[in-house]
Amino acid sequence: MTRLSSRLASLHASQIREMMRLAQQVGAINMAQGAPDFPAAAEVKQAAVEAIHADHNQYTVPWGLEALRVAVAEMLGKRYGLRADPASEVTITCGVTEGMVAVLLALLEPGDEVIIVEPAHENYVPAVAFAGGVPRYVPLLPPQFALEPDALAAAVTPRTRFLILNTPHNPTGRVFTREELASVAELAAKHDLVVITDEIYDRLTYHGHEHIAFATLPGMAERTVTCGGISKIHAVTGWRLAYVIAPEALSAGIRKVHDYLTICAPTPFQHAALTALAMPESYYDRIRREFAERRDRLMEAFQAAGIAAEPPQGAYYVLGDVSAWKLGEEATETCRYFIQHVGVATVPGPAFYYGHPEIGRTLLRFAFAKQMSTLDDVAARLERGYARRHRQ
Ligand SMILES: Cc1ncc(COP(=O)(O)O)c(C=O)c1O
Repeated sequence: MTRLSSRLASLHASQIREMMRLAQQVGAINMAQGAPDFPAAAEVKQAAVEAIHADHNQYTVPWGLEALRVAVAEMLGKRYGLRADPASEVTITCGVTEGMVAVLLALLEPGDEVIIVEPAHENYVPAVAFAGGVPRYVPLLPPQFALEPDALAAAVTPRTRFLILNTPHNPTGRVFTREELASVAELAAKHDLVVITDEIYDRLTYHGHEHIAFATLPGMAERTVTCGGISKIHAVTGWRLAYVIAPEALSAGIRKVHDYLTICAPTPFQHAALTALAMPESYYDRIRREFAERRDRLMEAFQAAGIAAEPPQGAYYVLGDVSAWKLGEEATETCRYFIQHVGVATVPGPAFYYGHPEIGRTLLRFAFAKQMSTLDDVAARLERGYARRHRQ
């Protein structure tokens, strides 16, 4: 008889996709998905077009173009002092999403426990499930969303082998401090854990908050797998291009899985990524400045609409507390209300709190990778919606 694998039993369908579907039905503004609604840089797009015309259309070596691996290693070395040998420690993957799955399939034994700091990006739990791992959740609590060393330590059991950490963090906007990261490093060293980091928003930090590459902490290079990518910063989420950095022995396994999973990342976009990575610092400064303005616009809108949140320190999400709207504590219903009556689509907080959904029940995630005109429209809708709630 045809039946689904038990691996899927613990997984629910993506709430982000579900909210987007509802938003489309009623014409709500899509603040649910973390995809920019503005164009990528012209020279980066041109590089992709030229790569196709130049017939860079066949498979590359599975772990990616040598020039791209060299460019990634140089960029990480220059920015963070992270050292990686492009020949043996850098793998180009089809997005961080595929990278994470390849890492876990390569390193995890069924039954191994994986600490997931939550709220968490919605791909981590499925990736752990595909590999047969067991997630152990450690929640960050609103409104500060601080990493609590004691809570992390309490989650460790004799079966714990991995910890997944995302900084800058989706969905809270936290950029973890050196002290917070040092507490993770201490735990990893004490219990011999491999730390898998998702640093896809590394360049998006605001107002003095600085990203620290976890692998650069003392003693961590040998036990860290660093994932990063170009989807977000270059506004090319559909290109499916990212990288995984790991010590040679781990990379060998990751490369083997990646090869059989996808063969290689899309060739024309690997060529275009060379242009993307070569963009000058002034280009990145401008992107960061624009995101900071978007963040400030949304925070201003929150204030006028009774939504409580700490300003994000990095990435492009904010978890807004909408308790003041008095819509109850069923987050999915609150989210539907916002789509249908306010015209703004978000994602319910519990979608990111797998282990402790109750913590997210009055939170909605807003993705602010949007044009200013879109954010102005969102601000007007929120303000109108809040005023209407208070008249009712
Ligand atoms: C924290 C985080 N990691 C990974 C991804 C997906 O990255 P990619 O497009 O490289 O698969 C996202 C997308 O929203 C994200 O927010």
